Amino acid sequence: MDAIALLKADHKTVEQLFRKFEKTGPNAHKLKRRLVDQMVLELSIHSAIEEQVFYPAVRARSVPLLHEVLRSLEEHHVVKWLLSELDDLRPDAERFDAKVRVLMENVRAHVLEEEGTLFPEVKKAFRPQELRALGSLLESAKKTAPTHPHPLAPDTPPGNLVAGAVSAVMDMGRDALRAARRKATSKVREVTGRTDKSPKPSLYDAGDAASP
Ligand SMILES: [Fe+2]
Ligand SMILES: [Fe+2]
Repeated sequence: MDAIALLKADHKTVEQLFRKFEKTGPNAHKLKRRLVDQMVLELSIHSAIEEQVFYPAVRARSVPLLHEVLRSLEEHHVVKWLLSELDDLRPDAERFDAKVRVLMENVRAHVLEEEGTLFPEVKKAFRPQELRALGSLLESAKKTAPTHPHPLAPDTPPGNLVAGAVSAVMDMGRDALRAARRKATSKVREVTGRTDKSPKPSLYDAGDAASP
């Protein structure tokens, strides 16, 4: 798959998550938490591979596209802050939905900019075989990309390559811990018969305690 097709497929995946979120009811806390978890995962990986592989290749090839790349990095930065706040926010928090809406607005505007302006210029600047080679690099970068946002980490090479690798390992531990905690929580509920009236085990797990 060439680089543009791969990145557009990622955009589509995220847009599908946004549409699902927009269809949720006001009390669907558990579902909202799950959808936001998916958004965090998809957008963290997508922004990391663009920053590690795609943007550096574009700025190295085309001086006129430098401004577009720098603007994209700033847009990613804002999105990463929103994601980092949403990552640990209870889905029944007063500002949860509002924050997701602002996230969606920002991501949609960024995607429009990439697909409408940047990608067509990139297609002119690279040969088809080069775009396919870039696509393979993006594919490989996905396997080691961080799964959570790191807004304070470097977003350009070489800093982001080192920081990204370290973050990815830390994120793996964090994901494993979160999964184990959720499993333990549901086991306790199964044994005790406690449901949504039970004390919430943590801020993050509040969504699991709420009924969809
Ligand atoms: Fe993108
Ligand atoms: Fe982007």
